Amino acid sequence: MEVIVVGSYEEASEKAAEIIEKIVKEKPDCTLGLATGSSPVGMYNELIRKHKEEGLDFSGVHTVNLDEYVGLAPDHSRSYRYFMDDVLFNHINIDKDNTYVAKGIGDMDENLKEFNDVLEKAQVDIQVLGVGADGHIGFNEPSKCLVAGAHKEKLDESTIDANQRFFNSRDEVPRSAITMGIGNIMKAKRLLLIVNGNKKEAAKRLLTDDLVDTMCPVTFLKMHRDVTVILEEALAAEIGYKY
Ligand code: F6R
Repeated sequence: MEVIVVGSYEEASEKAAEIIEKIVKEKPDCTLGLATGSSPVGMYNELIRKHKEEGLDFSGVHTVNLDEYVGLAPDHSRSYRYFMDDVLFNHINIDKDNTYVAKGIGDMDENLKEFNDVLEKAQVDIQVLGVGADGHIGFNEPSKCLVAGAHKEKLDESTIDANQRFFNSRDEVPRSAITMGIGNIMKAKRLLLIVNGNKKEAAKRLLTDDLVDTMCPVTFLKMHRDVTVILEEALAAEIGYKY
């Protein structure tokens, strides 16, 4: 596991964008696995800047997103499809037909079948991840068993609390999501985790012992061959991570 310790969120975003840029340049038809939430927003801004100012070309790039809220239509302003269009796709030269965000409304069995089919066919070159305070990746919440494939997941109360900042009230936060499973995530060639925000416990579990625990799903990253974690030095100091 490569751990890059940085001084600020801006630096984390720049480092993450450089990693994505290198892949896009080396393999113009690559598949990027993408995440929503706050952690990757700075990286998306930096990729937009690289596109506009330096001509970074996304015309051949494919993407697949980690998850989508159940019950929100793609044009709902809090859906993850809307989020991705808004924070990235509308500002770069990607073909939206080559971007996939699972559907959160309609027949869920059909949606999950489609999501699993997409994931079966895709070879994700790099999967971008954030981590929840409870250790979730995608929406794989802590549990006695984790699910390998794409599935519907009930959100933990702590995740609903954390995500209410994106909604007008807590009541509006969807109670479930469809998400890549832990197996889908582990099949990506490379994983890039941006640790941002109050993620002390999850970061500690990931970086300061050698245990893999379904009750802290981010610890599964310890079993992947090619993982980059970007961490701010204040958090590294807080968890006693030596580098
Ligand atoms: C988002 C996702 C989630 C977030 C996590 C951290 O697509 O799958 O796992 O990455 O909840 O969220 P932020 O970045 O908002 O702290």
